[in-house]
Amino acid sequence: MFFLSHFYPPCYTAAMSKRLVKWVGSARRKIATFAAGLLFAMLCFVALNWAMGPVSTNEYCGSACHEMNTSYQTWELSGHGANIHGVTVDCIDCHLPPHEQYFRHVTAKAYAGAKDLYKHHFGPDYDRETIRQKVMEHMQNKTCVHCHDNLTALPGTSAARLAHMAAVEAPQAEENKCVTCHENAGHEREKKLFSP
Ligand code: HEC
Ligand code: HEC
Ligand code: HEC
Repeated sequence: MFFLSHFYPPCYTAAMSKRLVKWVGSARRKIATFAAGLLFAMLCFVALNWAMGPVSTNEYCGSACHEMNTSYQTWELSGHGANIHGVTVDCIDCHLPPHEQYFRHVTAKAYAGAKDLYKHHFGPDYDRETIRQKVMEHMQNKTCVHCHDNLTALPGTSAARLAHMAAVEAPQAEENKCVTCHENAGHEREKKLFSP
């Protein structure tokens, strides 16, 4: 008994339990606030995903503004719009950061959408060649390699193999950029729908 009261004097225990009660109370509030915040964030995320869906389709991207009609048609003709394996690579797969980097994907989408809308209403006439060059400059190898990650294992000519080895090793060099050699990858501009 002596030892107990020595180590745990009654007043000390009371103060401690009071503090404990207070701490539990505030911890509860903190947890409740955190849970509410988490729920709100989750709801926002779901709402954002829901809102992003319709404005991320190929049809929307290719038809919302007339400037994009040619891009849509040339994409349809390309190996990514339709290919013998029935695979379709979407506009956003090449023109936005990958879905896995969700934050970058969403902010880039919002930025591009706002810019396109502004240019559509207030900008000068759409100059395809200038924009095309700009897209070419900005298109990074990692966008393509994200899917084409087996390049060096592809069967093909030795010239292509050497080109791909160089492209994987030094992706930033101008001559190693995928789109320098595969300019028509996303948009087939040479084949025409109808013969002239
Ligand atoms: C979302 C995935 C994805 C992305 C991103 C992607 N590709 Fe592809 N690519 C494919 C698939 C799938 C095929 C069809 C494969 C097949 O037919 O065997 C393909 C086919 C190709 C082909 C052969 C058909 C053709 O069009 O001549 C080339 C070349 C090519 N891609 C280059 C590129 C380049 C360059 C980029 C970057 C600008 C790119 N790809 C981005 C998935 C992708
Ligand atoms: C495989 C990757 C890839 C896909 C998929 C793709 N693009 Fe592109 N896009 C490119 C590349 C590379 C360029 C630059 C070279 C060129 O213009 O062909 C480009 C250029 C453009 C341009 C600027 C030139 C122009 O024609 O006005 C627009 C706009 C565009 N793409 C919109 C789209 C839309 C809309 C879709 C979907 C319907 C799409 N892209 C699908 C790779 C892609
Ligand atoms: C120096 C030029 C050059 C560069 C740079 C280059 N390639 Fe290629 N690529 C070729 C050649 C040549 C071929 C074989 C002929 C063809 O199919 O066009 C080829 C073939 C391909 C194929 C197979 C096409 C098919 O029909 O099966 C794919 C996919 C491809 N390249 C993707 C890429 C990607 C992705 C990059 C960037 C990391 C890239 N290439 C960089 C020249 C290049």
